[in-house]
Amino acid sequence: MKTLLVTGGAGFIGSNYILHKRATSPDRIINLDKLTYAGNPENFTDIVNDPLYSFIHGDICDGELVANLLNEYKPDAIVHFAAESHVDRSIVNPGDFIRTNIVGTFTLLNEARKYLDGAQGSGSDFRFHHVSTDEVYGSLEPDDPPFSETTPYSPNSPYSASKASSDHLVRSYHETYHLPTVITNCSNNYGPYQFPEKLIPLMILNALAGKPLPIYGDGQNVRDWLYVIDHVEALETVLEKGQVGETYNIGGLCEKNNIDVVTSICKVLDSLFPDSPHAPHDSLITFVKDRPGHDRRYAIDPSKIKAELGWQPRVSFEDGIEKTIHWYTENSTWVSSVTSGAYREWITTNYNER
Ligand code: NAD
Ligand code: TYD
Repeated sequence: MKTLLVTGGAGFIGSNYILHKRATSPDRIINLDKLTYAGNPENFTDIVNDPLYSFIHGDICDGELVANLLNEYKPDAIVHFAAESHVDRSIVNPGDFIRTNIVGTFTLLNEARKYLDGAQGSGSDFRFHHVSTDEVYGSLEPDDPPFSETTPYSPNSPYSASKASSDHLVRSYHETYHLPTVITNCSNNYGPYQFPEKLIPLMILNALAGKPLPIYGDGQNVRDWLYVIDHVEALETVLEKGQVGETYNIGGLCEKNNIDVVTSICKVLDSLFPDSPHAPHDSLITFVKDRPGHDRRYAIDPSKIKAELGWQPRVSFEDGIEKTIHWYTENSTWVSSVTSGAYREWITTNYNER
């Protein structure tokens, strides 16, 4: 049994990680989350009385709080998800991304280093697992090979630049101070609990409500989609078996352009709700102004994690998208609780300007 200090565990991937861990492992979870618009403590209603789950409402930029948590709980690992994660928001308000993604990661690294130096931890078995993105590598041309762990960094948005910066800080803490780190760079995730500002949940909810499905630019931008539980299993594999100081790329081997993703969602909805007044749902597709600096294509080469650690994706896009659509249709209370006034304000600002 291990104790894990999870940051940003009330967000999309963190919630899936914690719920999966508590259902399948004896590990104790301490969840440190600031509860920004993207964090939802109601995701943990089922485990709120679980003695192996604790929620701490706080900011990763608060060094004193982080130090106290490390000294009190003596975790075997920090699994660091906390971030501002939405590219469109980073274009409108980059300052939050610099603070949380860069200063917050620095704060955690610094406190982890002091914790280990003070021999409070479990020595060389400790891990600082930094959860990052493929967006740090920039944009691929149609015929380029997918991103590997040696692809040079070339971030194009304030979001990806802030994540790239945090990756470099993590690397430097390993090289300079021998902090036992691992970094994972993953492709686009989808699945339950994703905040409906991101492509897949936004399109599902808009289509169900008969609202326009806004496709940026020509809809030919490509992303490499991975079902969130596949990502969670990859993270568990890396924490358990990954080599200190290494980076592992995680991807779905599933490149799709945006228009095909949205059309697939519409087809599933047509078959679930043939009598809907909004069917055929693809009639709701609307092309809108492109995102500034919109990366054309992301794709991951996951051969290192497969060859060295034996992980590979298990859920096909067809199965994953069906599960996801079912989850959003069956969890309308969750949807109404996250689509608050602040959410509606974002949707109005972002889409009215396009
Ligand atoms: P998310 O936006 O859904 O959740 C982020 C969480 O971090 C929220 O619960 C939020 O309250 C919390 N948070 C934000 N600022 C904080 C702060 N200063 N202190 C403490 N908590 C704070 O994000 P996500 O999609 O779950 O992504 C999690 C991580 O995975 C991020 O680091 C992201 O860069 C990375 N990632 C995401 C994807 C994806 O497709 N979503 C793909 C690859 C990597
Ligand atoms: P997003 O989910 O924001 O993830 P990221 O930009 O981090 O990859 O967007 C995925 C793709 O979908 C991206 O190419 C932008 C596009 N997109 C739209 O066309 N319309 C939308 O309303 C949104 C939110 C995204």
